[in-house]
Amino acid sequence: MLKGKHIILGITGSIAAYKSAVLCRLLVSAGAEVRVIMTPLAKQFITPLTMATLSQHPILVDFFNPENGEWNSHVKLGEWADLYLIAPATANTMAKMATGVADNLLLTTYLSARCPVAVAPAMDLDMYAHVATQRNMNSLREDGVHIVEPGSGFLASGLVGKGRMAEPEQIVEAVKAILSEKKKSLEGKHFLVTAGATIEPIDPVRFISNHSSGKMGYAVAEALAERGAKVTLVSGRTSLPTPDGVERVDVLSAEDMWQECVARFEGCDGAVMCAAVADYTPCVVAEQKLKKGDDDMKIELRRTKDIAATLGANKGGRLLVGFAMETEHEQEHAKAKLSRKNFDFIVLNSLREAGAGFRGDTNVVTLIDKDNVEALPLMSKREVAHKIVDKIENLL
Ligand code: PMT
Repeated sequence: MLKGKHIILGITGSIAAYKSAVLCRLLVSAGAEVRVIMTPLAKQFITPLTMATLSQHPILVDFFNPENGEWNSHVKLGEWADLYLIAPATANTMAKMATGVADNLLLTTYLSARCPVAVAPAMDLDMYAHVATQRNMNSLREDGVHIVEPGSGFLASGLVGKGRMAEPEQIVEAVKAILSEKKKSLEGKHFLVTAGATIEPIDPVRFISNHSSGKMGYAVAEALAERGAKVTLVSGRTSLPTPDGVERVDVLSAEDMWQECVARFEGCDGAVMCAAVADYTPCVVAEQKLKKGDDDMKIELRRTKDIAATLGANKGGRLLVGFAMETEHEQEHAKAKLSRKNFDFIVLNSLREAGAGFRGDTNVVTLIDKDNVEALPLMSKREVAHKIVDKIENLL
């Protein structure tokens, strides 16, 4: 369940930082992508080299890289993460978090994070029991921060009591529990998702299609399933594996996709139309391979049925999300599709943006509804999918 998850591991200045190495290793070997932020003092307890090697990425400490001036954007990090885990978290860092002090990268990232945040406190027993620490921890709980309770035992001071950072294995279990809590926000909901390109046959050998790989639609299906929704993915041809927990229905042509979607929409709470569906299909499909001659050839095409418009006309109380792939007058065309197809919102991507559209792992989209236009920066298709699902959750 940690596969592909983005986790920021924040390390503060505590002797328990030695356990962060094991923690990082456990998260990475479970398939998570880990970025480590250390406070300046944390570097005294565990070397950046150790953490960079284990996380497979450079360590972030300062607001910018002193060697080349490159900015370490706490905002981007906060947006990137599925979870921000601070382990160990000192009494000092928790006090600053509770009051909004932002005097290092670890803390500014906390204030920017939109994902769940967890802290694993580590300190001496008296510091832990102190009324100020307990007050700060209660504030953090009220702010929605998850506390991975420390254990009791032998402490670095030589005293025995509560304050030892939880063991890395326990922290990983807590991380899994927090991420699966997030998952449940769409439990009981059923979504239809279309993805990939349709194939319109000309003869047994040739066809008309487009560049869609299915990546964007598969990411949406996966994001919905991760939040507990039942997902039926009606998929054009692609080489992608089926996301975990998703029911996949393979189709070839626009007509096949229309049939499957119309039959399945009834039982759903909503649909996300990400497929690049052919607008035209050959009027006649030759039974045998067409033989080439010396003359040019014409193929007569007829319009396909518009799946999204059909669902939009019959949507009742269901939620309908569309995509628009444009090359010019982008917003104008997208807004026209929003109302023509009766979408609740539309996800605009343009071939004029670098890193957007077909095949790649990234996209640049603008979410448009009848009142708002929200332009998002370049991000992975997985992140775009989660932004779309966030908006779906808000609308439901
Ligand atoms: O698959 P990838 O390589 O990751 O690329 C992703 C993508 C670029 C294909 C995706 O992000 C995207 O933009 N999909 C929609 C492409 C498209 O066909 O847009 P459109 O503007 O032609 O269609 C508007 C909407 O109507 C879309 O929601 C489309 O799914 C739907 N439609 C269109 C025609 C039709 N006959 N039936 C439909 O349902």
